[in-house]
Amino acid sequence: MQVNMATTKFCFCAAVLLIQFATARADGQWNNPGGWSKPNDPKWGPQVPPPFWKDFYLTFGQHVVKYPGTPTGEVGHEVELGLDKTSGSGFRSKYPYLFGRLSMNLKLAGGNSAGTVTSFYLASVFKHWCELDFEFLGNVTGEPYILQTNVFAEGKGDREQRIFLWFDPTTDFHNYGVLWNQDLILFLVDDKVIRVFHNSKDLGLPYLEYQPMYIYSSIWNGEAWATRGGRDKCDWSKAPFVASYTGFDVDACTVETGADWEIHQCYTKLFNSWYGDAAHKNLTSQQVDDLRWIKSNYIIYDYCSDTKRFNTTPPECAVNWP
Ligand SMILES: *[C@@H]1O[C@H](CO)[C@@H](O)[C@H](O)[C@H]1NC(C)=O
Ligand SMILES: *[C@@H]1O[C@H](CO)[C@@H](O)[C@H](O)[C@H]1NC(C)=O
Repeated sequence: MQVNMATTKFCFCAAVLLIQFATARADGQWNNPGGWSKPNDPKWGPQVPPPFWKDFYLTFGQHVVKYPGTPTGEVGHEVELGLDKTSGSGFRSKYPYLFGRLSMNLKLAGGNSAGTVTSFYLASVFKHWCELDFEFLGNVTGEPYILQTNVFAEGKGDREQRIFLWFDPTTDFHNYGVLWNQDLILFLVDDKVIRVFHNSKDLGLPYLEYQPMYIYSSIWNGEAWATRGGRDKCDWSKAPFVASYTGFDVDACTVETGADWEIHQCYTKLFNSWYGDAAHKNLTSQQVDDLRWIKSNYIIYDYCSDTKRFNTTPPECAVNWP
């Protein structure tokens, strides 16, 4: 069951990446980030791109995307991705990043969100790709979302973990992101570590260390598997389902051309940055406590303890839980 689910997800993601890659190329957006779509409203003004468009463009589902103003009147700092019966929607960063702290504030679809999947992930585009996933699986009204995370290194994934959150992710914005350096990757929720992936090259495992990754997000129909294994379907009378995003800042190394010298520069930046300094090479004692707290209270699935799926426990499991 779990394995089937994981395989479905694996194929889906690979397919989406290929499609998005192909689409971007076909549209000429690959080399022309200005090819993002703008809403058709004169009040946005044609010249100065608002912050969202500066760093991102839509990949699909433009007709279900909205750009509301914030309470302080800023327009373009928030985006609402929609899902209706005809389409989901998504965006991608203009450039990929190599190392840094990358996060966004998300408010998930409320009410009956069963069958919906809201993803926020980083992914590279090489053949043996790298990916860091957050996937939010919706639920019927009053029941909790599941947050599923996964790590792909050089094309090898199958590292799903699932947790319940300690708050309702549909009432307010919360921050989700990663800290990524040469020693570890932290999955962060409101700056609390929910998962760590250490560099385990000493155990013979590939690490995410040279492929820059784009930021992606999308909301899509996952009713075949997402909620209680597919038993709860999307209630289309409640559509569109809307996920809101704001806070697009990233503190990371942007890779514009992918040339060797740029990758090299990202290493130089890493070694001179706060996110690559000695204090961030390992978990702090607070982070160790946080991870133990997650493990004893919120974990509902962990590939590391799925003995049906793996005859031998994957080697990184021994180091990734404190
Ligand atoms: C939805 O709620 C049910 C009942 O509380 C729970 O078993 C399930 O894990 C929740 N989440 C999803 C995505 O199915
Ligand atoms: C990182 O911290 C853990 C737990 O605090 C410790 O067991 C481990 O040896 C540390 N690793 C390194 C490379 O310092």
